Amino acid sequence: MNPANSPSGNLASGTLQQPRSGSNSIVSRRDVLRATGALATTSMIASMAIPQTVYAGEDNTIKVALVGCGGRGTGAAANALSVKNQGPIKLVAMADVFPNRLNSSYEGLKGQFKDQVDVPEDRRFVGFEAYKQAIDCLSPGDVVIMATPPAFRWVQFTYAIAKDVNTFMEKPVTVDGPSTKRMLQLADESEKKNLKVGVGLMCRHCDARGELFKRIQDGEIGDLLLLRAYRMAGPTATAFAKKKPENQKELMYQIQNFHAFLWASGGGFSDFLIHNIDECCWMKNAWPVKAQATGGRHFRGDYVDQNFDQYAVEYTFADGTKLLMEGRTMPGCHQEFASYAHGSKGAAVISQSGHAPSRARTYKSQDMTSKDNILWQFGPKEPSPYQLEWDHLVEAIRKDRPYNEVRRGAEASLVTSMGRMAAHTGQVITYDAMLNCDHEFAPNVDSLTEDGPAPVVADAEGKYPVPMPGLKTTREY
Ligand SMILES: NC(=O)c1ccc[n+]([C@@H]2O[C@H](COP(=O)([O-])OP(=O)(O)OC[C@H]3O[C@@H](n4cnc5c(N)ncnc54)[C@H](O)[C@@H]3O)[C@@H](O)[C@H]2O)c1
Repeated sequence: MNPANSPSGNLASGTLQQPRSGSNSIVSRRDVLRATGALATTSMIASMAIPQTVYAGEDNTIKVALVGCGGRGTGAAANALSVKNQGPIKLVAMADVFPNRLNSSYEGLKGQFKDQVDVPEDRRFVGFEAYKQAIDCLSPGDVVIMATPPAFRWVQFTYAIAKDVNTFMEKPVTVDGPSTKRMLQLADESEKKNLKVGVGLMCRHCDARGELFKRIQDGEIGDLLLLRAYRMAGPTATAFAKKKPENQKELMYQIQNFHAFLWASGGGFSDFLIHNIDECCWMKNAWPVKAQATGGRHFRGDYVDQNFDQYAVEYTFADGTKLLMEGRTMPGCHQEFASYAHGSKGAAVISQSGHAPSRARTYKSQDMTSKDNILWQFGPKEPSPYQLEWDHLVEAIRKDRPYNEVRRGAEASLVTSMGRMAAHTGQVITYDAMLNCDHEFAPNVDSLTEDGPAPVVADAEGKYPVPMPGLKTTREY
C-alpha cells in the first residue's frame, strides 16, 4: 500500500488541500471566466462582499443531477441544495430505474426547495441509461450525485469523468477486487482532470472526530493498542429478502433488494459496516493488512438473500494492532452502534449510538463508565456531517481546489470487502489478496437491461447461493 494513500492521507478531516501548482485541470468556471475576461471584475466584486465566485454576466449556478433517487440520494440532493453562502445551486435532472422512486423524490425535493428544483418532465429519466441522460444535462464543473446501489458506481463515474463533471458518490464505492482496481484507475483519471469528487463516508467530515483524530495522533491516549466497533441491530434495510414475487422481473427485484445481493452492494456487511471500519482506520491512520473472521446464518425462516446474520472480524494492522468489528442483524439481541479506541494511557469513544452526533471523547483510563475519567469531549452541538461533506465539496468547486476522495473511498471499500470475504470463506484474507481476487460479482453491470438476466441466479426453490466458509474458499459464493 502506498503510504500516501493512508486513511488520513487525503482530506482526512475534511479540510481542503491547497491547490497543486501546475495541475492539469479541466476547464473550470474560473478558466471560462478568465477566457471571457470576466475575472477583470473580481476585485471590484470582492470589495462589494459578494461571494468571490459571482461574476458579472455569468450564470454562476452549480447544476446538480441526481442519479438514484432513493432515500440517500434524495437526502444528498437536499444537502446539496442546503449549502449556504456559496452561490446558487440548482437540481436540474434526475434519473432512476423505477419511475415511482423518481417521482416521490421529485415531489419531496420540490416541496422543500421550490425554486432550486428545476426538473421539468423532460429532464426526469428512467432506465439503465438514464444516468447518461441526466449527466448530459450538466456542463463541465457541475455535480452529479450517484446514490444507486454501489455496483453501478464505476460505470456511472466513468461517464462523469468523460463529461468533466464533478461527482458526489455514496459509499461503498466498490464491492469486490476487480471493481476496486477499476475504481483506483478512475481515481487517477479524475485526479488528473482535477475533478472534485466527494465520497459519502461523511464521518470523515465530522468536526468532533476530526479533533479526536488530532488528539489521538498527538498521543492523548498513548499508543493505540486496540480498536473495536459494533453495528448490531435487527434486520436492516433490504438485507433480509423474501422470495421474488412471481410478477416481478428478476433484475429489478435484485436491485430493489440490493442489500440482499453481494453483487449489488457487497451485502449488509459492506453497506452497513463500512462507516465503523473506516472511522477506526482513520484513527489508526492506516489500513489493516489482513483479516480473519467468523460469521453464520442462524434463523433464516423463508429469507432467501446471501447475507450472514452475524459477523465477527479481526483486522490486523502492519504493526500488529487489532481492530475487532462485530456486525449482527438479529432481532431480540443486544444492540450497539459504536466505535472505540484503546491506548496505552487511556481510551476514546470515536462514535456512540450511530453516526451523528458522534459524542467523541477521550478518557484517562480504560474505564469509560465514569464521567470523572473524561479528559476531553466535543462541544454540545455537532453539525451534521452529511451537510459538512457537501459544504466542503462545494467550497472546493467554487475555489477550484484539489478535492478527490475516490482513492480513499475505494480503499475503505476494499478493506471492508476483505473482512467480508474472510468471514464468507473462512480464510485469512490479506489486503493484496482482496485487491487481486479475480471474482468479479457482476462483470456485465455496465450492460444490464430490465428484461435481461441478473448477475446472480436463484435455485429451484428461489434461494440464492450463500457463502460456505471452509467449503468455498476462493470465492464468496
Ligand atoms: N452515507 C450514509 O450514511 C448512507 C446512508 C444510506 C445509504 N447510503 C448509500 O446510498 C446508496 C443508496 O442507498 P439508499 O438507502 O438510498 O437505497 P434506495 O433503494 O433507497 O435508493 C437507491 C435508488 O437507486 C435506484 N437505482 C438502482 N439502480 C439504478 C441504476 N442503475 N440507475 C439509476 N437508479 C438506480 C433505485 O431505484 C433507488 O431509487 C447505497 O450505496 C447506500 O450504501 C449511504
